[in-house]
Amino acid sequence: MNSIVTEIRKLKKEKHAVILAHCYQNEEIDEVADYVGDSLYLSQMAAKTDAEIIVFAGVYFMAQTAKILNPKKKVLLPRLESGCLMADMINLKQLREFKAKYPSIPAVCYINSTAEVKTECDICCTSSNALKIVESLNAPKVLFLPDTYLGKWVESKLNGVEVITYPGYCPTHLRIKPEDILNARKNYPEAKILAHPECHMEVTRLADYVGSTTGIMKYAKESNAKQFIIATEKGVADRLKRDYPEKDFILIKDNIICPNMKWHTLNDIYNALAKEQHEINIDSNTAQKALLCIDRMLEVSK
Ligand code: 13P
Ligand code: SF4
Repeated sequence: MNSIVTEIRKLKKEKHAVILAHCYQNEEIDEVADYVGDSLYLSQMAAKTDAEIIVFAGVYFMAQTAKILNPKKKVLLPRLESGCLMADMINLKQLREFKAKYPSIPAVCYINSTAEVKTECDICCTSSNALKIVESLNAPKVLFLPDTYLGKWVESKLNGVEVITYPGYCPTHLRIKPEDILNARKNYPEAKILAHPECHMEVTRLADYVGSTTGIMKYAKESNAKQFIIATEKGVADRLKRDYPEKDFILIKDNIICPNMKWHTLNDIYNALAKEQHEINIDSNTAQKALLCIDRMLEVSK
């Protein structure tokens, strides 16, 4: 076995550490990860773990969420550069301006947001529970941030709820164009097209299935179809090819890569664990308020 993998596994045991990895990570990370999945699954695992150290192979807001859920534990992000471009599209000032335009309307924030932004939202959601969370509010209008496309996709699925969205977006998913879907339909008429709800509305409208990264992987596993077009980040297509070699998975186009998700290598994970470096810290007032927003989501998602 690869020696760095052995070393990381040894360190994990010695230090009572757990490694959480998002499915957009470089595939090599799965060798050492305890849990691999989408944002909801990883936050549920972070809420449950009794490990003393959490190493988060994901982006900054995911590690922040793990820290908020585990204020007494050490949460490490192997490469601090791994931010989420969408999460950085709204700060507290911008959130306050957005909310001030629509007083008394509940605000739902996508988990892809900073801890500060979570402190002034009513509840958060991930791409796998967004419909359930918005429905749970029983409100005729909701504010949704930062992802305008996830918000508008939710609106299209719920009868009679107006979803007022902030103009944030994921640059990686917006590289997928409606014509890519139309071309894929023409070139692979038998294939099922599976898309993430961060894609443009014109893209999700044309897909056979829309869901979170884990939702896409579950659909591909359970479907009788033999060929699938994957309209999300490359990591999902890579894992599907590895896990189901008898099926055919085609990434919608070559460049659907989130550069920030790809920073972490096995070396970085080793260094993070060995030196206990790149610790996430959040001031306790912010963490306590943001926790309310995350806990409400976890309660509804049980
Ligand atoms: P998931 O909720 O599918 O994990 O998506 C998170 C994300 O950042 C997708 O770009
Ligand atoms: Fe953020 Fe988009 Fe990367 Fe997901 S794919 S982490 S939303 S920048």
